[in-house]
Amino acid sequence: MSDTIIPMSVDDINLSDPRFWARPLHERDDAFRALRQQRPLAFFDEPEVPSDSLMDPADLPPARGYYAVTRYADIAEISKNPADFCSGEGSVSVRDMPPEIAELFGSMIAMDDPRHARIRGIVSRRFTPKALERLLDSVDETAQEILDKAAPKGEVDFVEDIAAPLPLLIICDMMGIPRSAYPEVLHNSNVILSAGDPEYFPPGENPQEILIGAGMSLLGLMNELAEDRRKNPKDDLTTALIHAGEEGDDDRLTPQELSSFFILLVVAGNETTRTALTHGMYQLTRNPDQREILTRDLEGVLPTAVEEIVRYASPVTYMRRTATRDGVQVGGETFQKGDKFVLFYGSGNRDEEVFEDPDRFDVRRDPNPHIGFGAPGPHFCLGAHLARREMTVMLRRMFERIPDIEATAEPERLFGALPLVNGIKRLPVRFTPTPAR
Ligand code: HEM
Repeated sequence: MSDTIIPMSVDDINLSDPRFWARPLHERDDAFRALRQQRPLAFFDEPEVPSDSLMDPADLPPARGYYAVTRYADIAEISKNPADFCSGEGSVSVRDMPPEIAELFGSMIAMDDPRHARIRGIVSRRFTPKALERLLDSVDETAQEILDKAAPKGEVDFVEDIAAPLPLLIICDMMGIPRSAYPEVLHNSNVILSAGDPEYFPPGENPQEILIGAGMSLLGLMNELAEDRRKNPKDDLTTALIHAGEEGDDDRLTPQELSSFFILLVVAGNETTRTALTHGMYQLTRNPDQREILTRDLEGVLPTAVEEIVRYASPVTYMRRTATRDGVQVGGETFQKGDKFVLFYGSGNRDEEVFEDPDRFDVRRDPNPHIGFGAPGPHFCLGAHLARREMTVMLRRMFERIPDIEATAEPERLFGALPLVNGIKRLPVRFTPTPAR
């Protein structure tokens, strides 16, 4: 067990410093281990330039700092108790956002019941395993098309050519977004979740304008689509959203709710699954024994391998909750109304109290009660079944068609303070070229 390693003083750790997030992944893991063991609810001031809001600090509500929740048990406790720890105060990112920004990018992920439940209810039946059965063929066909393009090349960027297109194509098809708009959707969702990475936010340009521009561009797309679906309803999520609650006016989505829901679905469906697949490729290259176990019995091992990839990658770095009253308890300590709690899922997923040998990437890990999709509670990832399916199908087809695929360099990671997504921008891979089907 790794609990004998005390690698660093917790006083040297500052989760709000962008340089912390640029450190090698294993060093980050060491820091979180130290926090779990020595200061599991450490308090930090908020980042000076909060990369997940990119607003001028003068335009933001005051920064009161946050508690970094690093133990699995505490993350689980907070997630299942929305009455004491809500999602709807200010934001689920570290910094409170001005209301207009929170509305545009937040949607139900930053709401509480009953409003949250009402909005989630509109699309949740489309994301059940049964409903997704209907999608199975199209996920498979889309994965094959992506590999048809990549397989003959022999060397590609895994992110751009393999991991990003699948969730993008699938969520766009589910929403009814035309294929001609895919590049625009990809670019804008990259910007929204890129944590201020200079590649998307060039120094000298106004970051607020870039961020709001990305949101407005998705909004324009939605308005066009919504106008069409009002006249020509189809079997897609956009039609479901605009026709929601037609019988009872109370249930109707306001135009603002409709827009932010659309943005949430597009963005959440894209970045996360791509990040998981890319970390998976990287780990399967670094751990040839695990790769051998997986590829020798793909159908037998894929279910546990997919869960392990999500645990190990923890694609969503964190979500925030806010205390709703004085006297709330976490881990035996008492807190005040308005205190912010940042749930570090990657740390919970390495908690040695829950996972045996947590730093080991083990494609057969079972049980694996990871919290990569969030811990049980009202906000548990709506797309978890879809993400699992996409990952399973892509890994299956990829190892069938280009079995010797391997990463040839370290991943190029997203840069920023407290990035919401544990993102990888590029990962070069190589394989023996094979013809398209
Ligand atoms: C490996 C891929 C994915 C990971 C790791 C992931 C992770 C998460 C996490 C950690 C949360 C927050 C849970 C909480 O606050 O308690 C979440 C929420 C959400 N996810 Fe995912 N997600 C993934 C894929 C997807 C996909 C494919 C979709 C499809 C649309 C999606 C849609 C959503 C939505 C709509 C929410 C908000 C749910 C709510 O507030 O009720 N996710 N996800």
